[in-house]
Amino acid sequence: MKILSVENLSRSFGGIKANDNVSFSVEQGSILGIIGPNGAGKSTLFDLITGYTKAESGKVQFFDKNIFGLSPDKISNLGVGRTFQKLKPFADQTLLENVMIGAFVKEKNVKKARDNALEIINFVDLIEKRHHFAKELSTGQRKRLEMARAMAIEPKLLLMDEVTGGVDQKTIPGLVELIKKMKKTGVTIITIEHNINIIMEISDNVLALDQGKSIAFGPPREIQKNKQVIDSYLGTFDAA
Ligand SMILES: Nc1ncnc2c1ncn2[C@@H]1O[C@H](COP(=O)(O)OP(=O)(O)OP(=O)(O)O)[C@@H](O)[C@H]1O
Ligand SMILES: [Mg+2]
Repeated sequence: MKILSVENLSRSFGGIKANDNVSFSVEQGSILGIIGPNGAGKSTLFDLITGYTKAESGKVQFFDKNIFGLSPDKISNLGVGRTFQKLKPFADQTLLENVMIGAFVKEKNVKKARDNALEIINFVDLIEKRHHFAKELSTGQRKRLEMARAMAIEPKLLLMDEVTGGVDQKTIPGLVELIKKMKKTGVTIITIEHNINIIMEISDNVLALDQGKSIAFGPPREIQKNKQVIDSYLGTFDAA
């Protein structure tokens, strides 16, 4: 069953076509990996799907609902969570307070929202840091905070923008394990990721973007052999 269908989504900034007729769909319960060089339009695609940026044209269907043009709040309330490439925690609030902001979307009772937030913080393996201020956390821990906050709205679909970006090598495997653990809860995931080895390991399908266009879509093994993808992207990486 398709959880998300995107058709011909377009958005320009000045003369730049950040997204140019992008179409793809995602099966419920799967992981879609999105790859592409810097400026390919990956984050813009997330902004268009989640309502943070208005698309000029196209269709976005979540289950059987048309969510094109809805506000970020409405889309989030329907069950689409996201993390941001540029982390946006409330630096002077604790980890628990940050996650409770997400939990309140689903649960208005303070004690229950707190319990739900604690459960998610435990899930992302940061329970001993729950009373630490966000600004005291390491980059890897802040990535987990961001994932916890997104999970707190109990999303059916979760969009994650470069979870492993900007963290040191030894922190990456733990974050990859966390993504796999999230998938096991049943949540469908779309993840933007520069590390091709991680994409190969976790994705059921891969969407490759280049200059705003979708240049390939399919299982990771096929994408890795796709000539256009190799030319535009993989050629600059160790695709072994
Ligand atoms: N709000 C904006 N105003 C103007 N230009 C924008 C805006 N957002 C994105 N762009 C431009 O759109 C293009 C796509 O940007 P986007 O951030 O989506 O790329 P990306 O694939 O996420 O890149 P990266 O891998 O560096 O994160 C770029 O040329 C970028 O400069
Ligand atoms: Mg980006």
